[in-house]
Amino acid sequence: MSSPSFLADFRREPLADLFAADPARAEHLAFDLADIRFDFAKTHLTPELLGRVDATPYSEALSRLLAGEVVNPTEGRAAEHLAERGTGSADSVALARSRHARMRALVDAIEVGAFGDITGILHIGIGGSALGPALLVDALGRTERQYKVEILSNIDGQAVDEAFARLDPATTLVAIASKTFTTAETLRNADAALGWLEEAGVEDPYGRLIAITAAPERAVAFGIDETRVLPFAESVGGRYSLWSAIGFPAALALGVEAFDQLLEGAALVDAHVAEAAPQANVPLIAAVSDILYARGLGAETRAIFAYDERLRLLPSYLQQLVMESNGKSATLAGQPVDGPTSAILWGGTGTDAQHAVFQLLHQGTHLLPVEFVAVSAQSDEQDPDHHRELLLNCFAQGAALMTGRSSDDPHRSYAGDRPSTTILLDDLDPLTLGALIAFYEHRTFAEAALLGINPFDQFGVELGKEMARAIDDPETRSRFDPSTRALIERAGL
Ligand code: F6P
Repeated sequence: MSSPSFLADFRREPLADLFAADPARAEHLAFDLADIRFDFAKTHLTPELLGRVDATPYSEALSRLLAGEVVNPTEGRAAEHLAERGTGSADSVALARSRHARMRALVDAIEVGAFGDITGILHIGIGGSALGPALLVDALGRTERQYKVEILSNIDGQAVDEAFARLDPATTLVAIASKTFTTAETLRNADAALGWLEEAGVEDPYGRLIAITAAPERAVAFGIDETRVLPFAESVGGRYSLWSAIGFPAALALGVEAFDQLLEGAALVDAHVAEAAPQANVPLIAAVSDILYARGLGAETRAIFAYDERLRLLPSYLQQLVMESNGKSATLAGQPVDGPTSAILWGGTGTDAQHAVFQLLHQGTHLLPVEFVAVSAQSDEQDPDHHRELLLNCFAQGAALMTGRSSDDPHRSYAGDRPSTTILLDDLDPLTLGALIAFYEHRTFAEAALLGINPFDQFGVELGKEMARAIDDPETRSRFDPSTRALIERAGL
């Protein structure tokens, strides 16, 4: 597939001119969905450009996604994360519900003391089996939590020891989360956790293990009793799996009601994309903006800044969602793509980032679309004055990037016309966070559909995994290049 046709006759007009030409631009390019304001007015999108988008490839792919049909042809699968929130084939939705019920039953059992006095969960998983639960618990579970949740992902003994040190083995359950139940890091860390429980004198260490997986037979073979295996569907991709049993630590720490609201928030966005006209479909509009900058105008990166400490893990969560989905070089038809398929995503938190990386955003030579994510309402813990300043800083940055300021002194001159999107949540609660995450999922899907790529496979990570195994085998190691062999030698491996 060649580049989407809306790029063909696109002419970049300065943002100031776009505002002058359309005094109601701030309304025309701002949308409300699930108590979230999405403001695209400071991007180079126009209603006219949105009207020229041929949404046919997206609409066709979306119908298949919503119906639970195959949308991941390279693996011959549907992508059924939507079934977790009630959309898809009747069978898949029913299965997802029964598996949620199983997860809730386990949460109930823990709460009534079936495992003794439990105070903590060590959740072991990596990538999509860790980033989602980490984001949810960090964003929504900062206060009054009955259970301490530690997420252990890295195969680094330092990370392992630090996670153990923060928990009491006598009162901790270990959840091993792996869709495939074959991931080297996760299995290695699971063994370490068993050793930790044993050393602490826990009578039945295996009795403390819970598995969350799409391969229950492997979890049982590992030694975990079937009653403590929480299955989810093979058709739910890792980076789309926080809605499934992968969200177990969040369901336990935040409560099952909160988990239900999270699903409800996501379902609002599923309903929105199913019904909205293309010009009013918020994830599709965001995807058009992403394609405009990455493919049309050559912006290599896109930055996301969370102006709320509770959302500090959002950029890293989105990095996997976007880059593992859309970092592709072949089209669905197996042809080379004819341009970049996704910007490189990076980011941080405001206002910290203002004092670290914003210099380049304001005066560097890169075209770099920025996204601000903020929350109108302060939490009970946030001091009103701090919150006010935080938000004002956020809005000032978007305005400064766009407006710039001219000066005779080139060192003190700001070119302006730098695009940004602002996503403003009315409040940060499970419903809104669910909607926000689902918005990003649908945006990623829309970008892929318009570019004709498959967002649901990730063969790119396989070569590295294979070579990590080969490098540990003396026979295959000798076939590695001289630079790599010299490094192994230097490290004494
Ligand atoms: O290596 C990439 C990946 O397959 C991700 O897609 C996935 O989220 C992660 O590894 C973890 O995989 P698993 O849940 O099977 O352990």
